[in-house]
Amino acid sequence: MSTYIPPIRVDNPHLPFGDQRNAPWYGKDILTVKQFTRADLEYTFGVAHEMREMVARVGSFDLLKGKILANLFYEPSTRTSSSFTSAMERLGGSVIPINEVRYSSVSKGESLPDTVRTLECYADVIVLRHYEIGSASLAAQVARKPIINAGDGVGEHPTQALLDLLTIVEELGDVDGLTVTMLGDLKYGRTVHSLARLLSLYQVRINYVSPEILCMPNEIIGELKEKGIPQAEYKALEPVLPDTDVLYVTRVQKERFADESVYESVRGAYVITPETLGIAKDHMIVMHPLPRIGEISMEVDTDPRAAYFRQMEYGLYVRMALLAMVLGKA
Ligand code: NCD
Repeated sequence: MSTYIPPIRVDNPHLPFGDQRNAPWYGKDILTVKQFTRADLEYTFGVAHEMREMVARVGSFDLLKGKILANLFYEPSTRTSSSFTSAMERLGGSVIPINEVRYSSVSKGESLPDTVRTLECYADVIVLRHYEIGSASLAAQVARKPIINAGDGVGEHPTQALLDLLTIVEELGDVDGLTVTMLGDLKYGRTVHSLARLLSLYQVRINYVSPEILCMPNEIIGELKEKGIPQAEYKALEPVLPDTDVLYVTRVQKERFADESVYESVRGAYVITPETLGIAKDHMIVMHPLPRIGEISMEVDTDPRAAYFRQMEYGLYVRMALLAMVLGKA
């Protein structure tokens, strides 16, 4: 006797993954974290949670079967690009990968708007990483299909901030009441620009620790000040580490420096070792968007507080959620 197992009906509106063209994020671009309210974050994380369960149960499923993602990367990427690819493929969709724009018509001088107009003829959604601030907004102005900003120069990296926040929620349970310390290149690091803005939706205290020339831009400090977020700037980590719940370490962004000698003068300014963490709380986490170039020594990796590898995995579920949302399936 065989037992009949009904197939998952992804087009049934009564199921959580029904085809809902009136779904709140259907057809929307994701350009900046400023688009998100706390309710939106809860919604997104709820979908990400479902994605995590489905991946654990079945690995891949056909929610986005027949849909195509164009992954358009003008800057190097390992995690963002491959996690979007994995996300799309685990949802049954497929990917046009353009990781090496120099092999595309971009190398012939094609403009970003024309490249985007081309790709949207073949794809349902475009993930864009570009070296210029505002590039994702420019793409969204010309595109009919949703654009997801995967990093626009020193501007924003909203999907990274979403996965960073999900990491904090999953690892520490709540965001309100936390002290978050951002360390390293706060001037050019787009991940901390987006994360600081996203954290301003919560009752947090933020410390910025950086060399003078790599401090958090005034524009962002001003935005958070208006929202009443307590913020303080430091040169050294030691004074703030004992009270820190989330230590968010960043790489000094070599590619953003016009003068390499200036880069050399600040690289290696902070290195987290097991000794550094000696004065940190037992219940805190160390995060890093990765890649790390020596800012966290490898001996820290086995410390249970090192959350940066788990952080990458949360990125898969968040990106699955975002793709399903903008394509009207969640
Ligand atoms: C970050 C980026 O590209 O902004 N990486 C990432 O997306 N995980 C951080 C960095 O490159 O330092």
